[in-house]
Amino acid sequence: MSTLILGIETSCDETSAAVVKDGTEVLSNIISSQIDIHRQFGGVVPEVAARRHVQNVLPVIEESLTASAITLADVDAVAVTYGPGLVGALLVGVAAAKCIAFAKSIPLIGVQHIAGHIAANFLTEQRFSTPFLALVVSGGHTELVRVESLMQYTFLGRTRDDAVGEAFDKVARSIGIGYPGGPVIDRLAEQGNPEAYSFPRAWIERGNLDFSFSGLKSAVINALHHQRQKGEDIRVPDVAASFQAAVLDVLVQKTIWAVEQTGIPRVVVAGGVAANQGLRTQLQQAAEQNSFQVSFPPLSLCTDNAAMIAAAAYPLWETKKFAKLDLNAAANLSLVDWMTACLI
Ligand code: KG4
Ligand code: ZN
Repeated sequence: MSTLILGIETSCDETSAAVVKDGTEVLSNIISSQIDIHRQFGGVVPEVAARRHVQNVLPVIEESLTASAITLADVDAVAVTYGPGLVGALLVGVAAAKCIAFAKSIPLIGVQHIAGHIAANFLTEQRFSTPFLALVVSGGHTELVRVESLMQYTFLGRTRDDAVGEAFDKVARSIGIGYPGGPVIDRLAEQGNPEAYSFPRAWIERGNLDFSFSGLKSAVINALHHQRQKGEDIRVPDVAASFQAAVLDVLVQKTIWAVEQTGIPRVVVAGGVAANQGLRTQLQQAAEQNSFQVSFPPLSLCTDNAAMIAAAAYPLWETKKFAKLDLNAAANLSLVDWMTACLI
């Protein structure tokens, strides 16, 4: 008997619903993005995001069921992101999932968003044995995590200030190339000279697996400011390429250190910045040169989506770790908090 899990994701600015079979096969993955609305404000406006989720969540769920050629009666469990994220946005998905679980008397499964990003790697042909390492690079998180099992995580390093996606977005805003900045910087970087500017790399100290991106962000903003003051022309692709090179050097080197320190030769990349072409190429090269394996989610599953949430829920389905109907949004829920809550 196969298991169909309906996933719901509303933690930020994407309203998404998906149906995933047996934790690995995506039957549908509908994503209604609000990027065009938030772009005019230069970033996500939490109140606007929550209201849009209210409008979108039921149509998106219906579309997901229709695209999977099933009805709610065929769904075995409903899984929802309950943190971390914008609390008003999370609440919309959590309320919708609780209503479905109650009305259909099916289990409710609460999923942590980053566990979802990691699980996006399982929605491919590839199968992973544990332990493995996860390089989490999203708009809100930058972490190196040791994954013992899908319910056992240990942090090896994390950012001390900005997340890497946040640095991409803030630098893009200072160059005046819009929101979200990551994909635009990625494209521009291909046409620029990565050595045009020597931006700082925050190693912190050799072997340390923590990250820091706020110094780099300030260095880019200061360099642009000085050039503007001197009336110099700014070659935007060179700024993008030099910034991206500084980010990638640190991400790649710290991943190599994590492999060396743990002796675990398998890395999965998770989160929106996993879509970055430069990161994909450089980590692949590092993996070949340093004898480890690296995998990335398919491009369409790097940024927020509900298929990854349904995939992350599957081990909880198998072990019957269901949430109660009083599940609440938890804006700051960490992987470790979630793991503890699930194991109680
Ligand atoms: O994982 P995600 O969808 O949302 C969070 O959970 O935070 O990640 C969104 C982030 C944004 O900061 C966006 O600029 C970045 O991922 N991003 C990229 C690329 N595509 C999305 N950053 C660099 N290169 C890309 N191609
Ligand atoms: Zn995300």
